[in-house]
Amino acid sequence: MSHAAAPEESKALAPDWLAVPEDANDLAPGVWPASAQRDADGALVIAGISTPELVQSFGTPVLVLDEDEVRSRARAALAAFGDAAARHGGRARVYYAGKAFLSTEIARWMVDAGLNIDVCSAGELAVALAADVPPARIGYHGNNKRVFELERAVEVGVGTIIVDSEIEIERLAAITERLDRRQAVLIRVNSGVHAETHHFLATAHEDQKFGFTLEGAERAAERIRELPLVDLAGLHCHIGSQIFGTAGFRESASRVLELHARLLEAGILADDPTLNLGGGFGIAYTRADSPTPMAELADGIVDAVADECAVRGLDLPVLAFEPGRSIVGTAGVTLYEVGTTKSVAVGGTERRYVSVDGGMSDNARPALYGAQYSARLASREGVEEPVLSRVVGLHCESGDVVVDHEYLPSDVTPGDLLAVPATGAYCAPLASNYNHVPRPPVVAVSAGRARVIVRGERIEDLLARDAGIDASGASSRPHSDPALAGRTGEGEE
Ligand code: LLP
Repeated sequence: MSHAAAPEESKALAPDWLAVPEDANDLAPGVWPASAQRDADGALVIAGISTPELVQSFGTPVLVLDEDEVRSRARAALAAFGDAAARHGGRARVYYAGKAFLSTEIARWMVDAGLNIDVCSAGELAVALAADVPPARIGYHGNNKRVFELERAVEVGVGTIIVDSEIEIERLAAITERLDRRQAVLIRVNSGVHAETHHFLATAHEDQKFGFTLEGAERAAERIRELPLVDLAGLHCHIGSQIFGTAGFRESASRVLELHARLLEAGILADDPTLNLGGGFGIAYTRADSPTPMAELADGIVDAVADECAVRGLDLPVLAFEPGRSIVGTAGVTLYEVGTTKSVAVGGTERRYVSVDGGMSDNARPALYGAQYSARLASREGVEEPVLSRVVGLHCESGDVVVDHEYLPSDVTPGDLLAVPATGAYCAPLASNYNHVPRPPVVAVSAGRARVIVRGERIEDLLARDAGIDASGASSRPHSDPALAGRTGEGEE
Protein backbone atom coordinates (compact mmCIF):
# COMPACT_ATOMS: atom_id res chain seq x y z
CA MET A 1 0.00 0.00 0.00
CA SER A 2 1.49 3.37 -0.93
CA HIS A 3 1.61 6.13 1.63
CA ALA A 4 -1.52 8.32 1.59
CA ALA A 5 -1.26 11.81 0.13
CA ALA A 6 -1.47 14.53 2.77
CA PRO A 7 -4.88 16.22 2.88
CA GLU A 8 -3.44 19.51 1.60
CA GLU A 9 -1.98 17.81 -1.49
CA SER A 10 -5.06 15.79 -2.41
CA LYS A 11 -7.23 18.91 -2.01
CA ALA A 12 -6.56 19.66 -5.65
CA LEU A 13 -8.87 16.75 -6.52
CA ALA A 14 -11.61 17.69 -4.08
CA PRO A 15 -14.66 19.72 -5.14
CA ASP A 16 -14.96 23.25 -3.71
CA TRP A 17 -17.78 22.32 -1.36
CA LEU A 18 -15.75 19.65 0.44
CA ALA A 19 -13.44 20.97 3.19
CA VAL A 20 -10.77 18.90 4.91
CA PRO A 21 -12.52 17.96 8.17
CA GLU A 22 -10.94 18.67 11.52
CA ASP A 23 -12.23 15.30 12.63
CA ALA A 24 -12.91 12.69 9.94
CA ASN A 25 -14.99 10.69 12.44
CA ASP A 26 -17.54 13.41 13.19
CA LEU A 27 -21.22 13.04 12.27
CA ALA A 28 -22.42 16.13 10.43
CA PRO A 29 -25.63 17.41 12.01
CA GLY A 30 -28.64 17.19 9.71
CA VAL A 31 -27.07 14.53 7.49
CA TRP A 32 -27.47 11.66 9.99
CA PRO A 33 -30.56 10.59 11.94
CA ALA A 34 -30.83 12.59 15.16
CA SER A 35 -30.15 9.41 17.16
CA ALA A 36 -26.76 8.74 15.51
CA GLN A 37 -23.79 8.95 17.85
CA ARG A 38 -20.59 7.11 18.74
CA ASP A 39 -20.30 4.82 21.75
CA ALA A 40 -17.39 4.65 24.17
CA ASP A 41 -15.48 2.40 21.74
CA GLY A 42 -16.04 4.82 18.89
CA ALA A 43 -18.57 2.61 17.07
CA LEU A 44 -21.51 4.29 15.35
CA VAL A 45 -24.80 3.76 17.18
CA ILE A 46 -28.23 4.34 15.63
CA ALA A 47 -31.40 4.39 17.73
CA GLY A 48 -29.51 2.84 20.62
CA ILE A 49 -28.00 -0.09 18.67
CA SER A 50 -24.37 -0.26 17.71
CA THR A 51 -23.75 -0.78 14.01
CA PRO A 52 -21.30 -3.71 14.51
CA GLU A 53 -24.10 -5.45 16.42
CA LEU A 54 -26.55 -4.76 13.61
CA VAL A 55 -24.11 -6.17 11.08
CA GLN A 56 -23.54 -9.26 13.20
CA SER A 57 -27.28 -9.93 13.05
CA PHE A 58 -28.13 -8.83 9.54
CA GLY A 59 -24.91 -8.88 7.49
CA THR A 60 -23.74 -6.29 5.00
CA PRO A 61 -24.83 -4.41 3.09
CA VAL A 62 -27.86 -3.46 5.13
CA LEU A 63 -30.12 -0.43 4.97
CA VAL A 64 -30.87 0.69 8.51
CA LEU A 65 -33.95 2.88 8.93
CA ASP A 66 -34.41 4.90 12.12
CA GLU A 67 -38.12 4.42 12.77
CA ASP A 68 -38.51 7.32 15.20
CA GLU A 69 -36.81 9.66 12.75
CA VAL A 70 -39.32 8.68 10.04
CA ARG A 71 -42.30 8.95 12.34
CA SER A 72 -41.26 12.30 13.77
CA ARG A 73 -40.54 13.78 10.36
CA ALA A 74 -43.97 12.63 9.18
CA ARG A 75 -45.67 14.22 12.18
CA ALA A 76 -43.58 17.37 11.76
CA ALA A 77 -44.56 17.73 8.09
CA LEU A 78 -48.24 17.42 8.89
CA ALA A 79 -47.97 19.86 11.79
CA ALA A 80 -45.95 22.32 9.72
CA PHE A 81 -48.35 22.48 6.78
CA GLY A 82 -51.45 22.15 8.99
CA ASP A 83 -50.39 25.01 11.27
CA ALA A 84 -49.32 27.19 8.36
CA ALA A 85 -52.69 26.73 6.64
CA ALA A 86 -54.60 27.20 9.91
CA ARG A 87 -52.99 30.63 10.33
CA HIS A 88 -54.80 31.62 7.14
CA GLY A 89 -58.04 29.97 8.21
CA GLY A 90 -57.36 27.02 5.90
CA ARG A 91 -56.56 23.33 5.96
CA ALA A 92 -53.73 21.19 4.63
CA ARG A 93 -53.34 17.50 3.93
CA VAL A 94 -50.06 15.68 3.59
CA TYR A 95 -49.59 12.65 1.36
CA TYR A 96 -46.43 10.62 1.82
CA ALA A 97 -44.96 9.97 -1.65
CA GLY A 98 -44.54 6.20 -1.48
CA LYS A 99 -42.12 6.14 -4.40
CA ALA A 100 -39.42 7.45 -2.04
CA PHE A 101 -39.63 4.12 -0.18
CA LEU A 102 -42.71 2.03 0.52
CA SER A 103 -43.26 -1.07 2.61
CA THR A 104 -46.31 -2.06 4.64
CA GLU A 105 -44.52 -1.06 7.82
CA ILE A 106 -43.71 2.42 6.51
CA ALA A 107 -47.27 2.84 5.25
CA ARG A 108 -48.53 2.07 8.79
CA TRP A 109 -46.16 4.62 10.32
CA MET A 110 -47.56 7.22 7.93
CA VAL A 111 -51.17 6.45 8.76
CA ASP A 112 -50.30 6.54 12.49
CA ALA A 113 -48.79 9.99 11.95
CA GLY A 114 -51.99 11.19 10.26
CA LEU A 115 -50.62 11.27 6.72
CA ASN A 116 -52.26 10.01 3.55
CA ILE A 117 -50.32 8.01 0.96
CA ASP A 118 -49.49 8.58 -2.67
CA VAL A 119 -48.95 5.59 -4.92
CA CYS A 120 -48.04 5.48 -8.59
CA SER A 121 -48.42 1.85 -9.62
CA ALA A 122 -50.50 -1.26 -8.99
CA GLY A 123 -47.60 -2.56 -6.90
CA GLU A 124 -47.47 0.47 -4.62
CA LEU A 125 -51.27 0.37 -4.33
CA ALA A 126 -51.06 -3.29 -3.32
CA VAL A 127 -48.55 -2.45 -0.58
CA ALA A 128 -50.73 0.36 0.78
CA LEU A 129 -53.81 -1.89 0.78
CA ALA A 130 -51.87 -4.74 2.39
CA ALA A 131 -50.98 -2.28 5.16
CA ASP A 132 -54.71 -1.54 5.60
CA VAL A 133 -54.34 2.09 4.57
CA PRO A 134 -57.94 3.27 4.20
CA PRO A 135 -58.43 3.59 0.42
CA ALA A 136 -59.96 7.04 0.85
CA ARG A 137 -56.55 8.18 2.10
CA ILE A 138 -54.74 7.08 -1.06
CA GLY A 139 -53.83 9.30 -4.02
CA TYR A 140 -53.01 7.55 -7.29
CA HIS A 141 -50.46 9.08 -9.67
CA GLY A 142 -48.87 8.20 -13.00
CA ASN A 143 -48.71 9.27 -16.62
CA ASN A 144 -49.58 5.81 -17.91
CA LYS A 145 -51.86 4.12 -15.44
CA ARG A 146 -52.95 1.01 -17.21
CA VAL A 147 -56.63 0.21 -17.56
CA PHE A 148 -56.47 -2.61 -15.01
CA GLU A 149 -54.81 -0.21 -12.56
CA LEU A 150 -57.51 2.42 -13.00
CA GLU A 151 -60.16 -0.26 -12.56
CA ARG A 152 -58.55 -1.50 -9.38
CA ALA A 153 -58.19 2.04 -8.03
CA VAL A 154 -61.85 2.89 -8.69
CA GLU A 155 -63.04 -0.48 -7.40
CA VAL A 156 -61.23 -0.22 -4.06
CA GLY A 157 -62.30 3.42 -3.72
CA VAL A 158 -59.03 5.36 -3.70
CA GLY A 159 -59.64 8.91 -2.52
CA THR A 160 -58.15 10.73 -5.49
CA ILE A 161 -56.81 9.84 -8.89
CA ILE A 162 -54.47 12.46 -10.31
CA VAL A 163 -55.34 12.44 -14.01
CA ASP A 164 -52.54 13.02 -16.46
CA SER A 165 -53.97 12.81 -20.01
CA GLU A 166 -57.12 13.10 -22.09
CA ILE A 167 -56.96 9.39 -22.82
CA GLU A 168 -56.93 8.61 -19.12
CA ILE A 169 -60.00 10.78 -18.56
CA GLU A 170 -61.90 8.82 -21.21
CA ARG A 171 -60.79 5.55 -19.63
CA LEU A 172 -62.02 6.75 -16.26
CA ALA A 173 -65.31 7.85 -17.77
CA ALA A 174 -65.85 4.32 -19.07
CA ILE A 175 -64.66 2.58 -15.91
CA THR A 176 -66.76 4.66 -13.49
CA GLU A 177 -69.85 3.98 -15.60
CA ARG A 178 -69.12 0.29 -15.93
CA LEU A 179 -68.52 -0.11 -12.18
CA ASP A 180 -71.14 2.49 -11.29
CA ARG A 181 -68.75 4.17 -8.87
CA ARG A 182 -68.03 7.88 -8.34
CA GLN A 183 -64.40 8.94 -8.48
CA ALA A 184 -62.76 12.19 -7.38
CA VAL A 185 -59.84 13.39 -9.50
CA LEU A 186 -57.25 16.15 -9.52
CA ILE A 187 -55.86 17.40 -12.82
CA ARG A 188 -52.08 17.33 -12.97
CA VAL A 189 -50.95 20.64 -14.40
CA ASN A 190 -47.52 21.29 -15.81
CA SER A 191 -47.07 24.86 -14.66
CA GLY A 192 -43.89 25.27 -16.71
CA VAL A 193 -41.86 26.22 -13.64
CA HIS A 194 -38.33 24.88 -13.47
CA ALA A 195 -37.31 23.69 -10.05
CA GLU A 196 -33.84 24.85 -9.08
CA THR A 197 -32.36 21.39 -8.91
CA HIS A 198 -30.58 18.73 -10.91
CA HIS A 199 -31.85 18.79 -14.50
CA PHE A 200 -33.01 15.16 -14.60
CA LEU A 201 -35.10 15.63 -11.51
CA ALA A 202 -37.06 18.66 -12.62
CA THR A 203 -40.49 17.52 -13.73
CA ALA A 204 -42.17 20.81 -14.62
CA HIS A 205 -40.25 21.60 -17.80
CA GLU A 206 -42.64 22.28 -20.64
CA ASP A 207 -41.08 19.50 -22.72
CA GLN A 208 -41.72 16.50 -20.50
CA LYS A 209 -44.20 13.71 -20.09
CA PHE A 210 -46.24 14.69 -17.02
CA GLY A 211 -49.55 16.47 -16.87
CA PHE A 212 -51.48 19.00 -18.92
CA THR A 213 -50.44 22.47 -20.00
CA LEU A 214 -52.52 25.19 -18.38
CA GLU A 215 -54.69 25.43 -21.52
CA GLY A 216 -54.94 21.65 -21.81
CA ALA A 217 -55.99 21.43 -18.16
CA GLU A 218 -58.85 23.85 -18.79
CA ARG A 219 -60.15 21.69 -21.62
CA ALA A 220 -59.72 18.59 -19.44
CA ALA A 221 -61.78 20.26 -16.69
CA GLU A 222 -64.54 21.05 -19.17
CA ARG A 223 -64.59 17.45 -20.30
CA ILE A 224 -64.69 16.17 -16.71
CA ARG A 225 -67.69 18.42 -16.07
CA GLU A 226 -69.61 16.37 -18.66
CA LEU A 227 -68.89 13.08 -16.89
CA PRO A 228 -71.63 11.97 -14.49
CA LEU A 229 -69.40 9.94 -12.16
CA VAL A 230 -66.09 11.83 -12.23
CA ASP A 231 -65.74 14.77 -9.83
CA LEU A 232 -63.08 17.42 -10.24
CA ALA A 233 -61.72 17.95 -6.73
CA GLY A 234 -58.95 20.35 -7.75
CA LEU A 235 -55.60 20.90 -9.43
CA HIS A 236 -52.18 19.40 -8.87
CA CYS A 237 -48.67 20.39 -9.80
CA HIS A 238 -45.25 19.10 -8.81
CA ILE A 239 -42.24 21.15 -9.83
CA GLY A 240 -39.34 18.82 -9.10
CA SER A 241 -37.32 17.19 -6.38
CA GLN A 242 -34.54 18.05 -3.89
CA ILE A 243 -35.59 21.73 -3.96
CA PHE A 244 -34.34 24.10 -1.25
CA GLY A 245 -36.19 27.39 -1.76
CA THR A 246 -39.84 28.45 -1.84
CA ALA A 247 -39.72 30.69 -4.93
CA GLY A 248 -40.51 27.90 -7.39
CA PHE A 249 -43.55 26.81 -5.37
CA ARG A 250 -44.85 30.39 -5.28
CA GLU A 251 -44.46 30.88 -9.02
CA SER A 252 -46.06 27.56 -9.79
CA ALA A 253 -48.95 28.17 -7.38
CA SER A 254 -49.50 31.60 -8.89
CA ARG A 255 -49.86 30.16 -12.40
CA VAL A 256 -52.09 27.30 -11.31
CA LEU A 257 -54.27 29.62 -9.21
CA GLU A 258 -55.10 31.60 -12.38
CA LEU A 259 -56.64 28.45 -13.75
CA HIS A 260 -58.20 27.57 -10.39
CA ALA A 261 -59.93 30.97 -10.40
CA ARG A 262 -61.27 30.50 -13.93
CA LEU A 263 -62.60 27.04 -13.11
CA LEU A 264 -64.28 28.34 -9.96
CA GLU A 265 -65.90 31.12 -11.93
CA ALA A 266 -67.15 28.61 -14.48
CA GLY A 267 -68.56 26.48 -11.66
CA ILE A 268 -66.44 23.46 -12.65
CA LEU A 269 -64.53 22.90 -9.40
CA ALA A 270 -66.03 21.02 -6.48
CA ASP A 271 -66.86 22.80 -3.22
CA ASP A 272 -63.82 22.99 -1.00
CA PRO A 273 -61.43 22.60 -3.92
CA THR A 274 -57.93 21.25 -3.40
CA LEU A 275 -54.66 22.70 -4.61
CA ASN A 276 -51.96 20.05 -4.42
CA LEU A 277 -48.47 21.50 -4.80
CA GLY A 278 -46.64 18.16 -4.84
CA GLY A 279 -43.44 17.34 -2.97
CA GLY A 280 -39.78 17.89 -3.63
CA PHE A 281 -38.47 19.35 -0.35
CA GLY A 282 -34.71 18.90 -0.20
CA ILE A 283 -32.60 17.16 2.44
CA ALA A 284 -28.91 17.31 3.38
CA TYR A 285 -26.84 14.60 1.66
CA THR A 286 -23.55 16.18 2.68
CA ARG A 287 -22.60 18.99 5.02
CA ALA A 288 -22.65 21.33 2.01
CA ASP A 289 -26.46 21.10 1.86
CA SER A 290 -28.46 23.25 4.24
CA PRO A 291 -32.16 22.61 3.74
CA THR A 292 -34.70 24.96 5.25
CA PRO A 293 -36.39 23.40 8.31
CA MET A 294 -39.81 21.97 7.42
CA ALA A 295 -41.81 24.44 9.55
CA GLU A 296 -40.09 27.42 7.95
CA LEU A 297 -40.54 25.96 4.48
CA ALA A 298 -44.21 25.25 5.08
CA ASP A 299 -44.78 28.79 6.39
CA GLY A 300 -42.99 30.27 3.38
CA ILE A 301 -44.95 28.24 0.84
CA VAL A 302 -48.34 28.59 2.49
CA ASP A 303 -47.91 32.34 3.11
CA ALA A 304 -47.00 32.78 -0.55
CA VAL A 305 -50.04 30.81 -1.71
CA ALA A 306 -52.27 32.80 0.67
CA ASP A 307 -50.88 36.05 -0.82
CA GLU A 308 -51.51 34.82 -4.34
CA CYS A 309 -55.08 33.94 -3.36
CA ALA A 310 -55.63 37.31 -1.67
CA VAL A 311 -54.62 39.30 -4.76
CA ARG A 312 -57.19 37.32 -6.77
CA GLY A 313 -59.89 37.53 -4.10
CA LEU A 314 -59.90 33.75 -3.71
CA ASP A 315 -60.47 31.70 -0.57
CA LEU A 316 -57.47 29.58 0.33
CA PRO A 317 -58.08 26.15 -1.24
CA VAL A 318 -57.53 23.00 0.80
CA LEU A 319 -53.78 22.64 0.36
CA ALA A 320 -52.10 19.30 -0.18
CA PHE A 321 -48.42 18.36 -0.24
CA GLU A 322 -46.59 15.18 -1.16
CA PRO A 323 -43.22 14.93 0.57
CA GLY A 324 -41.26 11.71 0.10
CA ARG A 325 -37.53 12.26 0.48
CA SER A 326 -37.89 14.74 3.35
CA ILE A 327 -39.77 12.12 5.41
CA VAL A 328 -37.56 9.04 4.93
CA GLY A 329 -34.29 10.24 3.40
CA THR A 330 -32.36 11.24 6.51
CA ALA A 331 -33.63 8.24 8.48
CA GLY A 332 -31.69 5.75 6.33
CA VAL A 333 -28.06 4.73 6.80
CA THR A 334 -26.47 2.03 4.64
CA LEU A 335 -23.79 -0.11 6.26
CA TYR A 336 -21.15 -1.73 4.07
CA GLU A 337 -18.02 -3.73 4.77
CA VAL A 338 -14.78 -2.48 3.28
CA GLY A 339 -13.26 -5.13 1.00
CA THR A 340 -10.21 -3.51 -0.60
CA THR A 341 -8.49 -0.15 -0.65
CA LYS A 342 -5.98 1.28 -3.10
CA SER A 343 -4.34 4.59 -3.76
CA VAL A 344 -4.40 5.80 -7.34
CA ALA A 345 -2.01 8.46 -8.60
CA VAL A 346 -3.90 11.37 -10.17
CA GLY A 347 -2.05 14.37 -11.61
CA GLY A 348 0.75 14.63 -9.09
CA THR A 349 -1.34 13.61 -6.09
CA GLU A 350 -3.44 10.59 -5.26
CA ARG A 351 -6.92 9.46 -4.43
CA ARG A 352 -7.79 6.61 -2.11
CA TYR A 353 -10.32 4.13 -3.52
CA VAL A 354 -12.31 2.26 -0.88
CA SER A 355 -14.33 -0.68 -2.25
CA VAL A 356 -17.41 -1.81 -0.37
CA ASP A 357 -19.66 -4.86 -0.72
CA GLY A 358 -22.57 -3.07 -2.43
CA GLY A 359 -22.77 -0.18 -4.84
CA MET A 360 -24.98 0.94 -7.70
CA SER A 361 -27.30 -2.04 -7.14
CA ASP A 362 -28.34 -0.71 -3.70
CA ASN A 363 -27.81 3.00 -4.44
CA ALA A 364 -28.21 4.00 -8.08
CA ARG A 365 -28.45 7.72 -7.35
CA PRO A 366 -24.78 8.65 -7.83
CA ALA A 367 -24.71 6.87 -11.19
CA LEU A 368 -28.15 8.12 -12.27
CA TYR A 369 -28.06 11.71 -11.08
CA GLY A 370 -24.48 12.42 -10.08
CA ALA A 371 -25.81 12.52 -6.51
CA GLN A 372 -23.27 13.28 -3.78
CA TYR A 373 -23.16 11.40 -0.48
CA SER A 374 -20.89 11.32 2.53
CA ALA A 375 -19.42 8.44 4.55
CA ARG A 376 -17.90 7.65 7.94
CA LEU A 377 -16.16 4.68 9.50
CA ALA A 378 -18.85 2.89 11.54
CA SER A 379 -17.14 0.04 13.38
CA ARG A 380 -14.58 2.31 15.05
CA GLU A 381 -13.02 5.74 14.82
CA GLY A 382 -10.11 6.17 12.47
CA VAL A 383 -6.88 7.32 14.04
CA GLU A 384 -4.85 8.63 11.13
CA GLU A 385 -5.20 11.85 9.21
CA PRO A 386 -7.97 12.21 6.64
CA VAL A 387 -7.28 11.38 3.01
CA LEU A 388 -9.41 12.24 -0.01
CA SER A 389 -11.28 9.05 -0.78
CA ARG A 390 -13.81 7.67 -3.24
CA VAL A 391 -16.10 4.93 -2.02
CA VAL A 392 -16.89 2.53 -4.84
CA GLY A 393 -19.00 -0.59 -5.15
CA LEU A 394 -18.28 -4.11 -6.35
CA HIS A 395 -19.97 -3.86 -9.75
CA CYS A 396 -18.18 -4.28 -13.02
CA GLU A 397 -18.60 -0.70 -14.09
CA SER A 398 -16.38 2.30 -13.45
CA GLY A 399 -19.41 4.53 -12.78
CA ASP A 400 -20.23 2.33 -9.78
CA VAL A 401 -19.54 5.04 -7.22
CA VAL A 402 -21.20 5.26 -3.81
CA VAL A 403 -19.50 8.39 -2.47
CA ASP A 404 -17.62 10.42 -5.03
CA HIS A 405 -15.63 12.66 -2.68
CA GLU A 406 -15.07 12.23 1.03
CA TYR A 407 -12.23 12.61 3.47
CA LEU A 408 -11.84 9.35 5.37
CA PRO A 409 -9.19 8.44 7.93
CA SER A 410 -6.25 6.98 6.01
CA ASP A 411 -6.24 3.86 8.21
CA VAL A 412 -9.52 2.59 6.66
CA THR A 413 -8.83 -1.06 6.07
CA PRO A 414 -10.52 -4.28 4.85
CA GLY A 415 -13.08 -5.52 7.39
CA ASP A 416 -13.97 -2.04 8.60
CA LEU A 417 -17.63 -1.07 8.45
CA LEU A 418 -18.46 2.05 6.52
CA ALA A 419 -21.74 3.96 6.95
CA VAL A 420 -23.33 6.10 4.25
CA PRO A 421 -26.09 8.38 5.61
CA ALA A 422 -29.16 9.86 3.90
CA THR A 423 -29.98 6.67 2.00
CA GLY A 424 -33.57 6.33 3.21
CA ALA A 425 -35.18 7.71 0.03
CA TYR A 426 -34.91 6.45 -3.55
CA CYS A 427 -32.23 3.86 -2.75
CA ALA A 428 -34.18 0.68 -1.90
CA PRO A 429 -36.89 1.55 -4.50
CA LEU A 430 -34.30 2.01 -7.25
CA ALA A 431 -32.26 -1.05 -6.26
CA SER A 432 -31.45 -3.62 -8.93
CA ASN A 433 -29.87 -7.02 -9.24
CA TYR A 434 -27.10 -5.81 -11.53
CA ASN A 435 -24.35 -8.42 -11.72
CA HIS A 436 -26.76 -10.84 -9.98
CA VAL A 437 -26.18 -9.13 -6.67
CA PRO A 438 -29.02 -9.77 -4.18
CA ARG A 439 -30.76 -6.69 -2.81
CA PRO A 440 -30.00 -6.02 0.88
CA PRO A 441 -32.49 -6.21 3.75
CA VAL A 442 -34.05 -3.12 5.28
CA VAL A 443 -33.91 -3.13 9.08
CA ALA A 444 -35.95 -0.73 11.21
CA VAL A 445 -34.32 0.36 14.45
CA SER A 446 -36.01 1.99 17.40
CA ALA A 447 -35.19 2.29 21.11
CA GLY A 448 -32.46 -0.31 21.05
CA ARG A 449 -34.42 -2.86 19.01
CA ALA A 450 -34.04 -3.93 15.39
CA ARG A 451 -36.35 -5.79 13.05
CA VAL A 452 -36.37 -6.63 9.36
CA ILE A 453 -39.06 -4.73 7.47
CA VAL A 454 -37.98 -5.81 3.98
CA ARG A 455 -36.28 -9.18 3.64
CA GLY A 456 -32.97 -9.28 1.82
CA GLU A 457 -32.61 -11.46 -1.25
CA ARG A 458 -30.51 -14.61 -1.58
CA ILE A 459 -28.84 -15.76 -4.74
CA GLU A 460 -31.52 -18.48 -4.81
CA ASP A 461 -34.17 -15.76 -5.20
CA LEU A 462 -32.39 -14.59 -8.32
CA LEU A 463 -31.89 -18.07 -9.73
CA ALA A 464 -35.55 -18.83 -9.14
CA ARG A 465 -36.40 -16.43 -11.99
CA ASP A 466 -34.07 -18.16 -14.42
CA ALA A 467 -36.32 -20.38 -16.49
CA GLY A 468 -33.33 -22.51 -17.45
CA ILE A 469 -32.87 -23.87 -13.92
CA ASP A 470 -35.35 -26.36 -12.57
CA ALA A 471 -36.37 -26.00 -8.98
CA SER A 472 -35.04 -29.35 -7.81
CA GLY A 473 -31.69 -28.88 -9.58
CA ALA A 474 -31.21 -25.39 -8.20
CA SER A 475 -31.32 -26.39 -4.59
CA SER A 476 -28.61 -29.06 -4.99
CA ARG A 477 -26.07 -26.75 -6.60
CA PRO A 478 -23.10 -25.20 -4.81
CA HIS A 479 -24.77 -21.77 -4.85
CA SER A 480 -27.04 -22.95 -2.04
CA ASP A 481 -23.99 -22.79 0.21
CA PRO A 482 -25.12 -20.22 2.78
CA ALA A 483 -21.73 -18.55 2.64
CA LEU A 484 -22.42 -17.61 -0.98
CA ALA A 485 -26.11 -17.05 -0.72
CA GLY A 486 -26.30 -13.47 0.54
CA ARG A 487 -27.97 -12.46 3.77
CA THR A 488 -31.67 -11.94 4.18
CA GLY A 489 -31.76 -10.63 7.71
CA GLU A 490 -34.52 -13.17 8.39
CA GLY A 491 -34.34 -14.90 11.72
CA GLU A 492 -30.83 -13.62 12.23
CA GLU A 493 -31.63 -11.13 14.94
N1 LLP B 1 -45.23 14.05 -5.93
C1 LLP B 1 -44.97 13.72 -7.20
C2 LLP B 1 -46.01 13.87 -8.20
C3 LLP B 1 -43.71 13.23 -7.55
O1 LLP B 1 -43.47 12.91 -8.82
C4 LLP B 1 -42.71 13.10 -6.57
C5 LLP B 1 -41.38 12.58 -6.91
C6 LLP B 1 -43.02 13.43 -5.24
C7 LLP B 1 -44.30 13.93 -4.96
C8 LLP B 1 -42.05 13.29 -4.10
O2 LLP B 1 -40.91 14.06 -4.25
P1 LLP B 1 -39.86 14.15 -3.04
O3 LLP B 1 -40.53 14.90 -1.92
O4 LLP B 1 -39.54 12.76 -2.63
O5 LLP B 1 -38.70 14.85 -3.62
N2 LLP B 1 -35.48 9.29 -8.04
C9 LLP B 1 -35.17 10.70 -7.89
C10 LLP B 1 -36.37 11.48 -7.45
C11 LLP B 1 -37.53 11.28 -8.35
C12 LLP B 1 -38.72 12.01 -7.84
C13 LLP B 1 -39.93 11.56 -8.54
N3 LLP B 1 -41.11 12.18 -8.09
C14 LLP B 1 -34.07 10.84 -6.88
O6 LLP B 1 -33.59 9.83 -6.40
O7 LLP B 1 -33.63 11.93 -6.58
